[in-house]
Amino acid sequence: MSNQKLWGGRFSQSTDKAVEAFTVSVHFDKRLAYYDIQGSVAHARMLGDRGIISKTESDQMICGLKAILKEIEAGQFNWRHDLEDVHMNIEASLTERIGETGKKLHTARSRNDQVATDMRLYLRDALDDLTAGLKNLQRVLVGLADIHSDTIMPGYTHLQSAQPVTFGHHMLAWQQMIERDCQRLIQARERTNVSPLGAAALAGTTYAIDRQQTADELGFDRPTENSLDSVSDRDFTIEFCSSVAMLGMHISRMAEELIIWSSDRFKFIDLGDAFCTGSSIMPQKKNPDVAELLRGKSARLISNQTRLLVLMKGQPLAYNRDNQEDKEPLFDSADTSIDCVNILARMLSNMQVDKKCMYQAAGEGFSTATDLADYLVKKQIPFRDAHEIVGRVVSHCIENHLQLRQVELETLRQFSALIDSDVYDCLTLEGSVNSRDHVGGTAPRQVRKAVARARKHLGEG
Ligand code: ARG
Repeated sequence: MSNQKLWGGRFSQSTDKAVEAFTVSVHFDKRLAYYDIQGSVAHARMLGDRGIISKTESDQMICGLKAILKEIEAGQFNWRHDLEDVHMNIEASLTERIGETGKKLHTARSRNDQVATDMRLYLRDALDDLTAGLKNLQRVLVGLADIHSDTIMPGYTHLQSAQPVTFGHHMLAWQQMIERDCQRLIQARERTNVSPLGAAALAGTTYAIDRQQTADELGFDRPTENSLDSVSDRDFTIEFCSSVAMLGMHISRMAEELIIWSSDRFKFIDLGDAFCTGSSIMPQKKNPDVAELLRGKSARLISNQTRLLVLMKGQPLAYNRDNQEDKEPLFDSADTSIDCVNILARMLSNMQVDKKCMYQAAGEGFSTATDLADYLVKKQIPFRDAHEIVGRVVSHCIENHLQLRQVELETLRQFSALIDSDVYDCLTLEGSVNSRDHVGGTAPRQVRKAVARARKHLGEG
């Protein structure tokens, strides 16, 4: 060969050093080694079974590939940058190890279907890890909901005290967000788990390959339908990154609430010393840095999705080298999302809830005003009129520095003669939450029912 490259036959000059450095991907795609070898083993076995190479050759290859994997896992493999990527490093090493037979591994295959296969295998594992992590996070949330089914806190709209809710109900709202993320990933897995192997460079191959066999061996649901699409499709990476961008947005919103709740003004929760950090200048500080980083990490997750969409949008069929740029955002999204999910679950398990503080805050801000309006409606006053009356009561409270439940009955009756002493039942926080007693409502009874449903769904019976 005029040149050390595996593709060097038609070249008379060796690659420019700067070009080599520009095109190399092995420093990041070596992460695919395990999957690359899995794919190669399946391919080699199929070549042998179909008589495209001899059984002996196929066995030799499989043996060699397994030895290479051991070497990689032991950290003893010599990754060569001049060999560009993970695929050519492994192939070259196989040939070094088993001789001429190694050169037959790439029969009926291209790096284009090879890399697409590796990526799908890698992502399938990442999806499974993340889904398991999300299930665990949901279990933590459901556990908190169970303990706090009747812990009362202020519910907010516009970050203004709106109506009392239970903390358990709030935890289950988060759990619903995470459950949807889980569903999206499970659905993304279905579209990820198909085998592009056999599409070769773009048009398929002239050998009598068995795509079903390699798909089966690799645990794919089926071979892909179209060779051009197989080597160029990166929808599965975008779908994953979109799903975790959404997850990142959810985690960021949760983190934002944790930050607010742990602030001096709220003091609803204590995230614990182990999950906070200090300030290098202000000795009194205990900062919610983990929660802030969770909020901050969503930036990566959201931008990785954009990066992949932009990467793909200008590409004609079929494979283009642009696709090499899909790996780093995908790896980053997979690493970042699982890290965030695991640390959030641990931080929540460690969190202390200050029920008294939450309760006190829930009693402020006329949070039972809607309950008073509903009380009047039940006494046959149209809702719009009831709203007006309660508005006037609230105004009276503001002028006289009173909470609703502190207004004397006689005074209340000046606003509406229909008000009786039973009004105080609906002005208490307990009365307010207990009365929202329907599916999806904040009543402790409903929270406990929702906990039971969620546990069943999570397989905790
Ligand atoms: N390193 C390449 C990638 O990540 C592998 C496929 C290269 N194929 C090619 N025909 N240049 O996409």
